[in-house]
Amino acid sequence: MRGSGAYLPEKILSNDDLSKRVDTSDEWIRERTGIRQRHIAGEGELTSDLGVEAAKKALDAAGMIPADIDLIVVATTTPDLTFPSTAAIIQAKLGVGPCTAFDIQAVCTGFVYALSTVEKFLVSGQHKRALVIGAETFSRILDWEDRATCVLFGDGAGAFVLEAQEAQEAGERGMISSFLRCDGNMVDLLYVDGGVSSTGSSGHVRMQGNKVFREAVTRISQAMVAVCEEAKIPVTDIDWFVPHQANERIIQGVVKKLDLRPDQVISTIAGQGNTSAASIPLAFQAGVEDGRVKQGDLVLFEAMGGGLTWGAALMRV
Ligand code: UT7
Repeated sequence: MRGSGAYLPEKILSNDDLSKRVDTSDEWIRERTGIRQRHIAGEGELTSDLGVEAAKKALDAAGMIPADIDLIVVATTTPDLTFPSTAAIIQAKLGVGPCTAFDIQAVCTGFVYALSTVEKFLVSGQHKRALVIGAETFSRILDWEDRATCVLFGDGAGAFVLEAQEAQEAGERGMISSFLRCDGNMVDLLYVDGGVSSTGSSGHVRMQGNKVFREAVTRISQAMVAVCEEAKIPVTDIDWFVPHQANERIIQGVVKKLDLRPDQVISTIAGQGNTSAASIPLAFQAGVEDGRVKQGDLVLFEAMGGGLTWGAALMRV
């Protein structure tokens, strides 16, 4: 890890604002999810624009320029266009020369999938410096009349700059282990009811929230235990738990199940809601900016989302 950055759109939508649009209340949303507000991309502000802002900050933090990058991987479910990839658009907007660039689609687990994929590219020796971006304008695929989903999500982006290193010694900075899973049999629990090949439109998010909730703590914990077992590190030895921010109750359920301490958790859900693939780098950056996360800390990331997909990654940052 050489640097990280994040970007949130200016416009804020509070729970009270939402209660004027659908039959909900600040109290219900806070009690059931922990969310108080979310950021919403402005008109004409695209996923690539959010990603570019986060990437610029990550490059600055890394002390690098766009020309230093030879791999761009963008985790997103809300691309600017059906094609080309949002990675290609971000590459052009940043002014990075010809390099490898592609998107990853694993919905809310996208950033964990991207980290794990990028590690393999860097370890192969074919690429040296990667931009890993999670960027979403989820507000564009919400049904603003469906109170069960529209209160949950927000927009934003976060980015990491990762650099290949010589063989990693135990205790050195870098990616340690990752775990990725998908079970397409549970597609009905969380999906978008449209697409290029089916309806010809982008569709809206549909979720059986309580069924997803029931799967969450078990699957997320399974992934976290798997990465820690592979690394031969007790889960409780991590410095920071940086979870996907879907629901504060899910996060606390995992904390309890794995005996973590509440002060090991970085939660941004109150101010940002669920930003899908952007939520992990956004939460990580919050921890960096307020001084909690320091170079050399052991950080455990996890996520679960549509697919269902789920996974975890352990990194010394
Ligand atoms: O990031 C991808 C992964 N996503 C997740 O992990 C989300 C997982 N699911 C959840 O976080 C929770 O299931 C929700 C926050 C979505 C819902 O909380 P819940 O405690 O599971 O509520 P529920 O779906 O069982 O609904 C309880 C009640 C229902 O009313 P009745 O049938 O009991 O009368 C809903 O109609 O709450 C009602 N409800 C609402 N009421 C006020 C649903 N949404 C709202 C709302 N405001 N926004």
